[in-house]
Amino acid sequence: MIVTELETTAEKMVAKGKGILAIDESTPTIKKRFDTINVESTEENRRAYRDLLITNPNSNEYISGMILYDETIRQSTKEGVPFAKKLIADGIMPGIKVDTGAKDFALHPNEKITEGLDGLRDRLIEYKELGAKFAKWRAVITIGDNIPSSACIDANAHALARYAGLCQEIGIVPMVEPEVLMDADNTIETCYEVTEKTLSTLFATLKNQDINIAHTILKTNMVISGKKCPTQANIDEVAEKTVDCLLKNVPSELAGIVFLSGGQSAELATAHLNTMNKNNKELPWPLSFSYGRALQEPCLKAWSGNSDNIEIAQKALLHREKCNGLACKGEYDKKMEEAA
Ligand code: 13P
Repeated sequence: MIVTELETTAEKMVAKGKGILAIDESTPTIKKRFDTINVESTEENRRAYRDLLITNPNSNEYISGMILYDETIRQSTKEGVPFAKKLIADGIMPGIKVDTGAKDFALHPNEKITEGLDGLRDRLIEYKELGAKFAKWRAVITIGDNIPSSACIDANAHALARYAGLCQEIGIVPMVEPEVLMDADNTIETCYEVTEKTLSTLFATLKNQDINIAHTILKTNMVISGKKCPTQANIDEVAEKTVDCLLKNVPSELAGIVFLSGGQSAELATAHLNTMNKNNKELPWPLSFSYGRALQEPCLKAWSGNSDNIEIAQKALLHREKCNGLACKGEYDKKMEEAA
């Protein structure tokens, strides 16, 4: 029963032409996003914003699931329908962020370890009752002078595996996310090396803890130049190096891979995904998206906290969802941006 459930959910998450909308910003992170549009981060403003993302008509053509935050999964639409119920009614699977954040890693300056394992079994049971079909746990790997350390990569992989096991035990698909940050001045080659080590360690650890890889979704960064690197790799190079790194380090039985956007512009994140799918028709797993910022940014700006702007904000979101849905099939064209 649980096996079928996991299989069905994982398959649906990466169904052809569909991906995930990440709207699971923690309260401190959503405050940062709201600061950019001068909107106060009150509970009602957060609810109203998530309401427009969740109730966007026709999102279900391109979106298979949305990742919610603990506060959001307990909130409702303005008509009083719980968000998770609304999503399920529209054929979109609710997911939930279950880690409790990346904290300073003891004895390892500038490195992070993700917390949230204590009491997780009980929290997962509750989230399942609230409608969650999949769960996300994000580990943060930082590139810098002499980092990441093996200790940081190992400790984060271990936590990811423990969380994944708890998820699978109760029929929730784990979306394991080891994010190698793209904020530093490193070259794309360094990003490749660090991503390779992170992914190979992660899958060895998942296997060691008997996680069913076929019922797991990987959420990963692309192999990309650090934001502050003076030479920026172009779209073809990012696509080629990312796919190469994944083919070498990700088991073929994995259910699917979705990318985070990590600070890339909305259009670039789409173009990268599109090029990967256009140039690689025979990959062992679907390559899709689970973007936060790259899907939401134009929509957040259009909304700007004003309820009169809901329709135009929803249109901006649907446009990005459609572009990325097409990018999953290698059918996106930059001309779509001008047309919009
Ligand atoms: P970004 O696409 O904004 O990086 O967010 C995705 C996400 O959910 C990170 O955990």
